[in-house]
Amino acid sequence: MEQTLVIIKPDGLQRNLIGEIISRFERKGLKIAGMKMMSIDDLKVEEHYKKYVEKPFFRHLRTFMQSSPVIVMVLEGVEAVSAVRLIAGSTKGREADAGTIRGDLAMSLQTNLVHISDPEENPQEEIDRFFSQDELFDYKKIDRDFVYSPDELD
Ligand code: CDP
Ligand code: MG
Repeated sequence: MEQTLVIIKPDGLQRNLIGEIISRFERKGLKIAGMKMMSIDDLKVEEHYKKYVEKPFFRHLRTFMQSSPVIVMVLEGVEAVSAVRLIAGSTKGREADAGTIRGDLAMSLQTNLVHISDPEENPQEEIDRFFSQDELFDYKKIDRDFVYSPDELD
């Protein structure tokens, strides 16, 4: 089944929204395959945001992403990459749709609570950047047969 990376950024920790954010993904029916707290070092921040390293705002983005630990999660489900993007909402919080994490809870373009994998940017590579194989768990979730119909699980 498809897996995708989510990072709860430092504003999520500082604003006491970790539970709220995890809860939204849980209630949707996504399965948590891995989760931990960690700091993001210089190398990881540069790899993760490589398309923006040359941009003027990168300096602030790096400082922000390293201002506290973050929560990293691997979420799993049928077409999980796009489902998770819909729940997160578009990048700029103040323009994101109501009902999404960013639309309901964020104002900023930069401090927008979550990172979510982009299908164009190789979600598996992002997962490998933050998780080793022994930190990911393959287990049976008992709600599975109610979250999906049998043909969706073929
Ligand atoms: O996070 P998302 O995939 O929605 O957007 P992105 O274009 O991949 O940008 C990654 C992150 O860089 C954003 O979530 C912002 O935190 C940050 N960013 C920024 O600070 N200023 C910008 N002009 C664009 C992005
Ligand atoms: Mg992105």
